Amino acid sequence: MKIIRAKDYQDMSRKAANIISAQVIMKPHCILGLATGGTPVGTYQQLVEWYNKGDLDFSEVTTVNLDEYRGIAKEHPQSYWSFMFQNLFNHVNINPSNVYLPDGTNPDSAAEGARYDAIIQHLGGVDLQLLGIGNNGHIGFNEPGVAFELGTHCVDLLESTIEANKRFFEKKEDVPKQAYTMGIKTIMQARKVLLVASGAAKAEAIKAACFGPVTPQVPGSILQMHPDCTLVGDAEALSLI
Ligand code: F6R
Repeated sequence: MKIIRAKDYQDMSRKAANIISAQVIMKPHCILGLATGGTPVGTYQQLVEWYNKGDLDFSEVTTVNLDEYRGIAKEHPQSYWSFMFQNLFNHVNINPSNVYLPDGTNPDSAAEGARYDAIIQHLGGVDLQLLGIGNNGHIGFNEPGVAFELGTHCVDLLESTIEANKRFFEKKEDVPKQAYTMGIKTIMQARKVLLVASGAAKAEAIKAACFGPVTPQVPGSILQMHPDCTLVGDAEALSLI
């Protein structure tokens, strides 16, 4: 794993956006795997800024997101679909029909997982997968203990993840209890992985993911086995390594 030290959140966001921009410039029709959450927001803002300057063109880009809450429609303000449009897609020239997220309203989890993996396969796989990491080491919504060989599947969110994500909802009870997520297998099939991490709360997870044993107890640790994974972290997130 290549580790890039950034000074702070803004520096992390700019460096990560640079890597994504390079991908889009090198392969305009690339498949970008995208993430939600607080960490990549600054990265998306930077990409929008460069798009507005005329430096980036998303017209041929296709995106596949890591995950979506189960049981809420895409129009829901807290759906990951809404997040992606608010933070990136509404502000760049991406074709909305080239944007994919799991369908949180599909009640058949096996069918939804198979459908989503078939889309990714049909697209020819992900060129660059952007990832955040949970305080507990999760990537996507692959919580500690997940089987590494899973493709897209339905997960029960852990109490700690519901706790961490309640800030996006009016109250904790509103946070969905399940989500569809790309599995570790799906994530590991991406040709390149870009992991972003910011803040002291991520320091333990980053240390365990980068230098601890490769174990399902720390889902992010599997990235040590990825042939082309880059971590961009700010000083606080990298403070223990
Ligand atoms: C988001 C995702 C999650 C987050 C992780 C970190 O699509 O899959 O794994 O990347 O929970 O979230 P933040 O960035 O909010 O700390």
